[in-house]
Amino acid sequence: MTLLAFETSCDETSAAVIRDGVVLSNVVSSQVALHAEYGGVVPELATREHLRNFPPVSREALNQAAITVEQLDAIAATQGPGLPAALLVGLKGAQTLAFALRKPFIGIHHHEAHLFSPWIKVTDDGARVDIDAFEPNISLIVSGGHTLLVHVESLLKHRVIGSTIDDAAGECFDKIGKLMGLPYPAGPEIDKLSAEGNARAFDFPRPMLHDPSDDFSFAGLKTSFRYFLQKNPRLVVDRSKFPDLCASVQAAIVEVLVAKTIRAAERLNVRCVTASGGVACNSALRRELARACEKRGARLRLVEKKYSTDNAAMIGILAERKLLAKHASDLDADIQPNWPL
Ligand code: KG4
Ligand code: ZN
Repeated sequence: MTLLAFETSCDETSAAVIRDGVVLSNVVSSQVALHAEYGGVVPELATREHLRNFPPVSREALNQAAITVEQLDAIAATQGPGLPAALLVGLKGAQTLAFALRKPFIGIHHHEAHLFSPWIKVTDDGARVDIDAFEPNISLIVSGGHTLLVHVESLLKHRVIGSTIDDAAGECFDKIGKLMGLPYPAGPEIDKLSAEGNARAFDFPRPMLHDPSDDFSFAGLKTSFRYFLQKNPRLVVDRSKFPDLCASVQAAIVEVLVAKTIRAAERLNVRCVTASGGVACNSALRRELARACEKRGARLRLVEKKYSTDNAAMIGILAERKLLAKHASDLDADIQPNWPL
């Protein structure tokens, strides 16, 4: 099966061609630089960029895969959740193409695609879904907009067991970075600075670490960081302590994410842990998850960095599994901006 997939739920315009589980192309046009000067994603600007980028990104994905539209068997697109007008560009573009080509269309849940992304395996000659390795898992989805803990019971069956009650983990990285005067999005910069820092230099709270639920909370950590900077303003002027500050705050976020993920896996007797989303690029999170899983004899499947941030390949890989399982969507299916997982 050969399919063309689209992702436009936030600030990345992406198109990918998937054939029989193999990623033939995955073109991502990121708008990060455009939104950086506003300190966050501006929905109206994102929509205009998607409209501008949709045709060239689609053409590029087909060219790189050396596929013509006549060779496509199906079209897929993110249906939700996400920014409404941004979703509309990808969804309606994909449905129009499916209508013109008389091919099946399938709308995909963005987070379900993230859930599946750790099973994309990168090899010397490309990337493909490692379906034979799939096993039930506890999955941590951590991005700028979401922090979810999910029990994946089988390939297409899952249950959300926890989520953030306020800010997402990535949002916490970004807001703390903003307080330090770091450019948006601050997560990667905090990660980089932390490499030279001492994670025990400052003691920040670990919100909800001992709460019995599988939920998270990061707003209190951000507030506590703000008060800390107000009391110690020279830390921002004299940037010499930035590595220690970053490492300490990163350690607080990572400790909560890792502890609650591992605890859920133990409680539910699940032997595999997966992690995906932009924050899954974080080196401390990757390292600590690996350490914790090794200690408990659990298998860890981290999303490859290339497929951690939003991309159409993960949409297409999941779409193919769903089409094989006889799922499909109507050509007039509407966007689902608040679609629960
Ligand atoms: O999944 P994503 O590309 O977009 C959505 O939010 O859907 O995730 C972006 C988020 C941002 O908050 C960014 O700061 C964070 O992921 N991020 C990181 C790292 N790389 C990206 N956070 C911590 N460490 C990183 N290395
Ligand atoms: Zn995402």
